[in-house]
Amino acid sequence: VNDVITLAIETSCDETACAILKNGREILSNEVYTQIEIHQAFGGVVPEIASRNHLEKISEVMDKALNDAAVTFSDIDEIAVTYGPGLVGALLVGLSTAKGLAYSLDIPLIPVNHIEGHIAANYIAHPELEPPFACLVVSGGHTHLVDVKSYTEFEIIGRTRDDAAGEAFDKIARTLGLGYPGGPLIDRISKEGNPLAIDFPKAMLDQEHMDFSFSGLKSSVLNYLNSCKMKQIEINVPDVCASFQHAVVQVLKHKAQQAVISTGYETLVIAGGVAANSSLRAALGEIPGIKLYYPPIHLCTDNAAMIGCAGYYASRAGNRGHLETNAVPNLKI
Ligand code: KG4
Ligand code: ZN
Repeated sequence: VNDVITLAIETSCDETACAILKNGREILSNEVYTQIEIHQAFGGVVPEIASRNHLEKISEVMDKALNDAAVTFSDIDEIAVTYGPGLVGALLVGLSTAKGLAYSLDIPLIPVNHIEGHIAANYIAHPELEPPFACLVVSGGHTHLVDVKSYTEFEIIGRTRDDAAGEAFDKIARTLGLGYPGGPLIDRISKEGNPLAIDFPKAMLDQEHMDFSFSGLKSSVLNYLNSCKMKQIEINVPDVCASFQHAVVQVLKHKAQQAVISTGYETLVIAGGVAANSSLRAALGEIPGIKLYYPPIHLCTDNAAMIGCAGYYASRAGNRGHLETNAVPNLKI
């Protein structure tokens, strides 16, 4: 049996990433160039600046990935690339690169949904993990509960009705003047605070559906901060962070538990940048009767290895892209 070598490209947001995988789940190299420092000055990702930096870095990142894996273009069997969801200009840099390569090397092009990539990060981290399972995908742009029926079949069973969980972390951190991205900072500062200090709202906790809403929580934290300022009360930043994080985690835990009950699966998986959150990991670990999986932190946030893994399975199922394949900024699962 011949090994399948996949070259994967990810440029959907502010990470320029390229990876080489063997047989879908083994990382030969995983190169990530992050633009975080460039966007920090603006408190968030600036789309035009992101596209330009992808363009400037993609060749270098790909060369590094090939070098680290000790392979050349002639060893590559297929090219996997993120085609959505994400910033259109950013996506186009990766997609155009992938199309050019696949055409010139005469090998298959496999378009990958970024969210399915986040889920697949878990296959790399856990060789024994197989579908079906329930998956909580929590990132800067997405908050979904997904019934992962097979490697290539997904059903959304819950979603956010407004903000994504990571977006809420980023906005609160920005208001507190902590920096960008907010998730890791709030995670760290929360360890010094009291999660029960302020009772922020936990939306839809008492409802049976598996949808989320984080905009009310965000407003409530902002109102709290404003009223402290008006009354000239000193703000206890660790307490605000810990209480906000506690509210998010309680809601995510409750809904994830509902997903396990409704699907009947015994396996719960978390994916996406917010899956790096220490409090979320601990809380989900307390759900009785389930086996919990999450990726190591470097595979939670955006990377190309996860895209290569999802692409490998999509390719086995016969999914193919072509020269007309376009970027889809609002691509759904
Ligand atoms: O998956 P990702 O890298 O990009 C998207 O596809 O959106 O996720 C980035 C998000 C950011 O909102 C960031 O603040 C959040 O993940 N994040 C965290 C943590 N690490 C990253 N949120 C909470 N706790 C963390 N430790
Ligand atoms: Zn992502």
